[in-house]
Amino acid sequence: MADPIPSVAPELITAFKGAMRRLAATVTVISTGDGSERHGMTATAVTSVTTDPPALLICVNKTASLHPVLATGTRFCVNLLKDSHAEVAGAFGGRLQGPERFGTGDWASNAHGVPYLTDAQANLFCRVDALMLYGTHTIFVGLVEDVRLFGDISPLIYQDGRYIKAS
Ligand SMILES: Cc1cc2nc3c(=O)[nH]c(=O)nc-3n(C[C@H](O)[C@H](O)[C@H](O)COP(=O)(O)O)c2cc1C
Repeated sequence: MADPIPSVAPELITAFKGAMRRLAATVTVISTGDGSERHGMTATAVTSVTTDPPALLICVNKTASLHPVLATGTRFCVNLLKDSHAEVAGAFGGRLQGPERFGTGDWASNAHGVPYLTDAQANLFCRVDALMLYGTHTIFVGLVEDVRLFGDISPLIYQDGRYIKAS
């Protein structure tokens, strides 16, 4: 068990946020569902963990509506957005609420009922294999069960608080 998280000076938090604004990241939408319900949210805190087995991690705020669903150990999909998906990122980032979000973009469901964005650069179908609580967030490790690639590599990138296209 890690030591309790210490309190830090506000200036350090401001500087940290300033540094993170310089950490460009591909925008994703994490989606989950069981055929009857669908949930999803925009996320950039997504990182590869291991290749064998193929695994990735996602950091999800405990206040996010997706959080309690993932905490059940469900299957989910990481949809890597492409540069034309700023509308999708906005909808799943809080502009729309609940299942209404799936009205933006072209969504289908796999055999397990997990929704995926059909024209995402890639869909990584995972199931929750481990989790770690840390402060305001939970780090979920997703064991990748299937991957679908689509089209060219053309990521939607989030940097300095806005969406940009890779040049
Ligand atoms: C570009 C972008 C990246 C985001 N990355 C994350 C992330 O990695 N983890 C997270 O918990 N929330 C992230 N968010 C915030 C959630 O998408 C947002 O709070 C969402 O509304 C949460 O879902 P809810 O409204 O259903 O609770 C991000 C938002 C944006 C716009």
